[in-house]
Amino acid sequence: MSYVTAVLRTDEPPLMHQAVEEAVRLLREGEVVALPTETVYGLAANALDPVAVTKIFEAKERPTFDPLIVHLPRKDQIDLVAEVPQEIVHTVKQLTERFWPGPLTLLLPKKPVVPDIVTAGLPTVAVRVSSNGIFKRVIGAFDKPLAAPSANRFGSISPTSASAVLSELDGRIHLIVDAGASLYGLESTIIRIEPGTPKPFITIVRPGPLTPDDLKPYGKVKVAIRSVIDGPSDSPGQLASHYAPRTPLRLLSRPSDFIPEEGKRYALMSYRGEEKDGYLHLCDWEEVMMLSPGNGKLPEAAVRFFHVLRRLDELGVDEIIAEPLHEHGMGIAMMDKLRRASVRFAS
Ligand code: TXA
Ligand code: MG
Repeated sequence: MSYVTAVLRTDEPPLMHQAVEEAVRLLREGEVVALPTETVYGLAANALDPVAVTKIFEAKERPTFDPLIVHLPRKDQIDLVAEVPQEIVHTVKQLTERFWPGPLTLLLPKKPVVPDIVTAGLPTVAVRVSSNGIFKRVIGAFDKPLAAPSANRFGSISPTSASAVLSELDGRIHLIVDAGASLYGLESTIIRIEPGTPKPFITIVRPGPLTPDDLKPYGKVKVAIRSVIDGPSDSPGQLASHYAPRTPLRLLSRPSDFIPEEGKRYALMSYRGEEKDGYLHLCDWEEVMMLSPGNGKLPEAAVRFFHVLRRLDELGVDEIIAEPLHEHGMGIAMMDKLRRASVRFAS
């Protein structure tokens, strides 16, 4: 596998039209293309063509037990790929009316037309509709469902810019469509819906930009992120090794948990860079990067999260030390990712 990877801009109308056209041409030829979404960049291929989908797994070096998310051109097209059980039709309608296009992925029983390689042999398929303008143009013109996992090597940090995709997949794919930084910076919230009275059960199997509070009006919400040591989660991609930088990472609970070792170089991932939080003076940091300088806002931290992690990883320090974040709202997803990243290096 060795390609010349083109990066096409979309910040002026003629360039944008060319980029969309080229992406659609490649998809029609059964190739993979890296596309922007509002969450993170995705690596897309025709979801109904098993040969095209195989190329996603090859480019990412992703094991085939890890299923892909299927993106639909429009929100009224669920029945192209999934069967919505009668008992949850109403809830699915409410949720998709409210949150699609947007960062919500639903797990639903799959239709036979979806190749087994897409769902890793599972009876369910993960579906969503992206709100990114460029993604919408490409999938609208292609007019078929697109399978698109995050456009990173398996287990690595999700890309939130075209340059991040390039550093992950340069030489492995033909095209990256550049639409600037991702709006949310975290992958979509994945949920399972089960019938229940008086309210249906909504289980968050991967936390993301849509929080338990956002979903609460539509059902009884449970966050079922298995602890990383508990073994496989309901979302097979939630492996312990996920979202990990190459540099060892340690998530602290409190400042006193950290005693620097002589001669080692450390970098700090700080939430808001405040003295009073107690982390800035723990050692002579090689670098301090802040997620949300000032008062600290979780949605702003989310936008910078993977970018900061990637930059700290490039420094070549001995260890990245991460401050804990508030574990509510989007902080749930970021803390989950930091735990997964740090567990990889523990023991
Ligand atoms: O925001 C997103 O969801 C991004 C953008 C590109 O759309 N995509 C993304 O895909 O994060 P990926 O492949 O990196 O993560 C998909 C997750 C994996 O953890 C996978 O195991 C899970 O969804 N998944 C996919 N199909 C599933 C299924 N049928 N049952 C349970 N989990 C599933
Ligand atoms: Mg991923």
